[in-house]
Amino acid sequence: MFVTFEGIDGSGKSTQAQLLARALRADGREVATTREPGGTPLGERIRELLLNGQDMSPWAEAALFAAARAELVEQVIAPALESGKVVVCDRYVDSSLAYQGIARGLGVDEVLQLNEHATGGLFPDRTFLVLVDLATAAARARSSDRIEREGGEFQRKVDQAYRELATMFPDRIATVDGDRAADDVAEEIRGRIRQLS
Ligand code: ADP
Ligand code: TYD
Repeated sequence: MFVTFEGIDGSGKSTQAQLLARALRADGREVATTREPGGTPLGERIRELLLNGQDMSPWAEAALFAAARAELVEQVIAPALESGKVVVCDRYVDSSLAYQGIARGLGVDEVLQLNEHATGGLFPDRTFLVLVDLATAAARARSSDRIEREGGEFQRKVDQAYRELATMFPDRIATVDGDRAADDVAEEIRGRIRQLS
């Protein structure tokens, strides 16, 4: 089973990815966790370029995220799934659809096509989109990378983009209200995962 977490910076998705992985391990499941961009030696170098490097054109950005993702699928995600593990990924293709496809304006279909090639068509069984108030997210977010420094208006666009994606892919993307205690959010997510497995 392949599960991904999505949301704007500070939504609490990394926290939820960790809590789900811990709960699944407690249930005796073998779990592999990854983060994007990164998760492989090449991916971590690309992460550095993307988050701490110079400004770049939107397609260069989309292509670099896709390159890091291609490596992650081949080196980590596909082998883990083949060996029967549950894979829990903090961000995946929907991040590129929201940030590059919609917020940067490259187009959902165009960025989706790039990522279909990069991932060999591997899509999650379930994606949890953690939705929070923009002010809550801004108060929670700690790190500030090149993309986060785009500011509040960009975060608002990304938030809207994610909500659009949830309506475009209703069978795969489940939205959860992240404006609650982390444990309450985690409990709801575990309930929804049990329905799947
Ligand atoms: P993201 O990965 O979406 O950027 P994180 O999971 O890293 O968000 O959370 C950002 C910060 O907010 C962390 O300090 C985390 O402990 C805190 N946090 C996460 N979820 C909640 C929650 N439901 N309520 C309050 N604080 C939270
Ligand atoms: P990340 O380090 O996950 O941010 P955080 O830990 O704060 O949640 O992601 C880094 C940034 O990269 C984040 O602002 C979102 C952006 N991003 C994209 O624009 N496209 C992508 O495909 C991915 C995976 C991330």
